Amino acid sequence: MRGVFVTGTDTGVGKTAVAAGIAWLLRKNGIDVAAMKPFATGSKPFSKKFKSEDTAILAEATNAIETDEELNPVFFRVPASPLMAAQILNKSPPDVHGALFQLKKLGIKHQFVVVEGIGGLMVPLTEREFVADFVRLVDLPVVIVTHPRLGTLNHTLLTVRVCREFGLDILGIVVNMMPKKPSAVEKNVPRVLQRLAGVPVLAVLPEMKNKPDYKEIGRLLEKTSVAEKVLA
Ligand SMILES: Nc1ncnc2c1ncn2[C@@H]1O[C@H](COP(=O)(O)OP(=O)(O)OP(=O)(O)O)[C@@H](O)[C@H]1O
Ligand SMILES: [Mg+2]
Repeated sequence: MRGVFVTGTDTGVGKTAVAAGIAWLLRKNGIDVAAMKPFATGSKPFSKKFKSEDTAILAEATNAIETDEELNPVFFRVPASPLMAAQILNKSPPDVHGALFQLKKLGIKHQFVVVEGIGGLMVPLTEREFVADFVRLVDLPVVIVTHPRLGTLNHTLLTVRVCREFGLDILGIVVNMMPKKPSAVEKNVPRVLQRLAGVPVLAVLPEMKNKPDYKEIGRLLEKTSVAEKVLA
C-alpha cells in the first residue's frame, strides 16, 4: 500500500487542511487517491452523510465514492480520545484491526491513500494501543503538522521522538499557520525545528484570513514540491 499518514502535534493544527491539500494535489497530478479518517470523535454528527466534518472534507477533496463507514469506520459522539469517548458512552473501545482492514481495502482499490490521524500520536485508542501503534501497523510514512506558536518546539520534538520510539518513518514536517507578520521567534521556528529534529521541513504554510480551502493549501504545497516528496 502506498500512502502517507498525516499526524499533528495537537488537535486543531491543520491535519485535515494539509491531508486534503496533499490528496487534492496528487489527484491533480493524475494519481488515484483515497483519503481516510479511521478514527474520529465529535459532539454531534456533522451531516446526514458524514459523521465527522474531517471525513466530509477529505471525501470532497478526493471526490470519493465510498461510504462514510468505509472512510471513517470509527466515530464516537463525544469530543475526546477514542478510548475516553468509548468509556463515557459505555461502549467497547475501537476495533483497531477493523479500521486497519478498511484502510487496506482502500489501499488495494486506489493508487495512494492519505490517512488523517486523530489529535496526536499518543492519543489512546484502547487501553493498550495509541495512534502511534496504529501507524506502525499501517506502515506508512508520517507527515507531522505543527504551528510556529509558543510551545511548538517542545510538542514537535516530542512527536518526532515518539515516531522514533515506535519505529515510524518521518517524511517531514509542515509548519502551518505562519502569521503574515511573524515575530523573529516564529520566523525561526522552521529552521530550528529542522535542525533540532533532524527532519526536513516540507512546507511552511501561511495563516489565512478565512478557513483555507484544500485547493488553496494544495497549490501552496505544490510550490514546495510536496507531491514529489510524498511520492518519492
Ligand atoms: N493555514 C491556515 N490558516 C488559517 N486557518 C487554518 C489554516 N489551516 C487550518 N486552518 C483552520 O484551523 C482549524 C483547524 O484546522 P484543521 O481542522 O485542519 O486541524 P486538525 O489538526 O485537522 O484538527 P482536528 O484535530 O480537529 O482533526 C480549521 O478551522 C481550519 O479551517
Ligand atoms: Mg482534522
